[in-house]
Amino acid sequence: MTRRIIKGAGRLKLPAEVRLGRSGVHGYGLFARDFIPQGAQIIEYLGERITKAEAQRREDQRLARLAAGGDGCVYVFELNKRHDIDGNFSWNAARRINHSCNPNCESLNIRGRIWIVALRDLAPDEELSFDYGFSYSEWRGHRCRCGARQCAGYIIKSGQRWRVRQALAAERT
Ligand SMILES: C[S@@+](CC[C@H](N)C(=O)[O-])C[C@H]1O[C@@H](n2cnc3c(N)ncnc32)[C@H](O)[C@@H]1O
Ligand SMILES: [Zn+2]
Repeated sequence: MTRRIIKGAGRLKLPAEVRLGRSGVHGYGLFARDFIPQGAQIIEYLGERITKAEAQRREDQRLARLAAGGDGCVYVFELNKRHDIDGNFSWNAARRINHSCNPNCESLNIRGRIWIVALRDLAPDEELSFDYGFSYSEWRGHRCRCGARQCAGYIIKSGQRWRVRQALAAERT
């Protein structure tokens, strides 16, 4: 298979505005060093561009690792209808950004590259987060510990949270 690594990858890219640190949400996270203004294009989500079929193969491997008690972290990012980006490379600092149900950043596809952009002003030491946008079909496998008031307890795109709440309520009755 030909490896298509996103241009600019290879060495750790950590913009001056952010630092890596332990997160209260999960594992490591990315934090603002200084004030970051709303709209700032903070960091690119780098990685290997892969087909959907390859992404599914890697997802199956992830699930097997998880079932064996290993790391179940998801680093594959949806790029477009045909391709995804596998960001599980040490030089992709953006892979450390956690999900939040009340995020302060968003992921934007800007001319075929994924950028993490500030949704509002960020204060120094604030942890960066964005909505992973996971679909309803996969919610059960992803507990959410973001702590936001809006959180349904699972990582799921905002428009589908009501369905998760409904499913959980039905299970309780
Ligand atoms: C791209 S990694 C994020 C960085 C991760 N904290 C690390 O140390 O590498 C994605 C994984 O982090 C975890 N994660 C991210 N956001 C989370 C959240 N809100 N609640 C619980 N786990 C989360 C999940 O295991 C998810 O598959
Ligand atoms: Zn949440």
